[in-house]
Amino acid sequence: MRKNIIAGNWKMNTTLPEGLALAKGLNKALEGKSLKCDVVIGTPFTHLAGVAAAVDTARIGVAAQNCADRDKGAYTGEVSAAMIASTGAGYVILGHSERRQYYHETAATLKAKVALALANGLKPIFCVGEVLEEREAGKHFDIVDQQVRDSLFDLTPEDFSRIVIAYEPVWAIGTGKTATADQAQEIHAHIRRTIASRYGEAIAADTTILYGGSMNADNARDLVARPDVDGGLIGGASLSVEKFLPIVEAF
Ligand code: 13P
Repeated sequence: MRKNIIAGNWKMNTTLPEGLALAKGLNKALEGKSLKCDVVIGTPFTHLAGVAAAVDTARIGVAAQNCADRDKGAYTGEVSAAMIASTGAGYVILGHSERRQYYHETAATLKAKVALALANGLKPIFCVGEVLEEREAGKHFDIVDQQVRDSLFDLTPEDFSRIVIAYEPVWAIGTGKTATADQAQEIHAHIRRTIASRYGEAIAADTTILYGGSMNADNARDLVARPDVDGGLIGGASLSVEKFLPIVEAF
C-alpha cells in the first residue's frame, strides 16, 4: 500500500534559529498523536543537520530542497546528495518549478540529480506541473507526462519505487488559487497511468502522488479525500505549526 505524506517545503524562509523553533514546535505538536500520514519537512541546507537532530526522525522526515548534479569535487557552492544524506535527511525535493524556472534546471540535470539522490539513499520528491498557458491550451497532461518520462523513465523498478511524485500546477503555487479536487484527481490518475505504462500496475499503485499549490487547512480535506491524491507538498502553510498541523490531520 502506498503511503500518505504531508510534506512542507519551507523554500528560502527562516533563519536557523527560526527553523529550529518551527521544527521543534511541530515535533511537540505531533507527540503522542497517531497519524494517518507520514510527515516530512523540507528545510534550507543550512538547517538540515540541526533539524534532523532536533526532531524525532521516525515521525518527521527531513528533506533538502535540491541537490547537486555532480557526485563531488570542484563545484563551488554546490551541496551533494551524499552531504545531504550525512545530515540525517532522508528526502530531497527535486525539479520544483521554481528551480526549473529561475535556475534553468533541465530534464537532463534533473535525471542526474535523481540518480545521485537514489545512489545516496535519499528519496526524491519529484515535482511536475504545467504553467497556466499550458493548462488553458489543454496541454497539461502532455506536459506532466513529458516531465515524468524525461527524468524518471530510465530507472530500475526498484529505484522508481523510492520516488514520490508531487504534482504542482505552477499557476496554483503561492497564488492562493488551488486546483479543484476534481482537477487534482484527474491529473493524478493520469500520472499513475503513465507510471503504469512504464513500470507496471503494481508499482504505479504503490507510488505516492502529492498535490501542491496553495494547499491549506481549508482545502486539504477535500483534496486528500480523492483516491489518487496521496497527500500534499505545502509551501506557505508549512511555515507555522498552526497552519501545517490541520493539513497533517486532514486524513
Ligand atoms: P504554496 O503552498 O505556498 O502555494 O507552495 C506550494 C509549493 O510550491 C510547494 O512546493
